[in-house]
Amino acid sequence: MIGEDIYKTAELLRRGEVVAIPTETVYGLAANTFDTNAVAKIFGIKNRPKFNPLIVHIKNIEYIHTIAQNINEKLIKLMTHFSPGPLTVLVEKKECISNIITAGSNKVAVRIPAHPLTLKLLNILEFPLAAPSANPFQYISPTSSIQVAEQLGDKIPYILEGGKCKVGIESTIVGIENDEIVVYRLGGIAIEEIEKYVGKVKLKTQLNKSEIVDTPGQLGKHYSPKKRMIIGDIQQILPKFQNKKIAVIIFGKNILPEQENIEVYNLSNKADDIEAAAHIFEYLYKIDASDAELIVAGLLPDIGLGRAINDRLLRAASDIHRDMDDENECF
Ligand code: TXA
Ligand code: MG
Repeated sequence: MIGEDIYKTAELLRRGEVVAIPTETVYGLAANTFDTNAVAKIFGIKNRPKFNPLIVHIKNIEYIHTIAQNINEKLIKLMTHFSPGPLTVLVEKKECISNIITAGSNKVAVRIPAHPLTLKLLNILEFPLAAPSANPFQYISPTSSIQVAEQLGDKIPYILEGGKCKVGIESTIVGIENDEIVVYRLGGIAIEEIEKYVGKVKLKTQLNKSEIVDTPGQLGKHYSPKKRMIIGDIQQILPKFQNKKIAVIIFGKNILPEQENIEVYNLSNKADDIEAAAHIFEYLYKIDASDAELIVAGLLPDIGLGRAINDRLLRAASDIHRDMDDENECF
């Protein structure tokens, strides 16, 4: 059931239920952080492996000291500038955070979501909310309540309606190693923005590794549509599939010739990376539900949110790269 009632949402959460909540990045699948049974349910609903830890969503910066300790000043500085917002910090956990949340790590991922409804919900609750993105494991993250309903509606009692997610891609995850800020997942805050406050950062956003990495959720294959997806030079790829119905994802001015078998999805015709981020999952989802047989996308310039979008595109298509490498067709 989809509704706007935060009091009902709060009651369900207090009773140990799992509900979907809106955030500015993507919808989350939330449970009481301190109720291990409720948290365990999240993994079942998502079909998510237990080695993949969860982000804890808190109501304000002060609250971080209730669940974490020895927090580096640089991380506090970033939180102060970017929270509430699409930033997640990895910090040393306190005893009250269970191992099921962190997948056994002594670090917990924490973020303050910038969605008015969810912030209000967090403020009336007596506990923070553990929440991964509200999609089945490895599928596209939902940016609207309808998408959550279509993917998981029969598995949860309530979806809190919060409109379309404004940012549209997940939070940027940062931590600290040897007094240096490390970015583990590219996301809604661009690296360039982070570097304005803490100087050069280190990137550890491994792509195409299916082993467990620093943020175990960053598996190579991720955010994947069900359809075959090819990334590369669109103009070179299209002629190879003339008898297929193709969804083409572009960015900026459309210079493709009109072709009957092609439907164009423009992430931003004014080549705006922020607008593109807000569309990427929405379009992938739409295309998956369309009659297109193949998805073809080009990469964006590797700046601003373009990097995070490219990261999502490459992961979404990671099966295909391997094919294409073998066939020597693109890349
Ligand atoms: O924008 C977001 O971050 C959304 C919204 C709902 O807040 N959440 C989200 O959660 O994207 P999820 O579970 O889909 O991705 C969380 C990522 C995973 O890659 C996970 O491995 C990593 O964060 N992570 C969480 N806790 C961690 C921990 N203790 N240590 C290392 N990585 C962690
Ligand atoms: Mg996710």
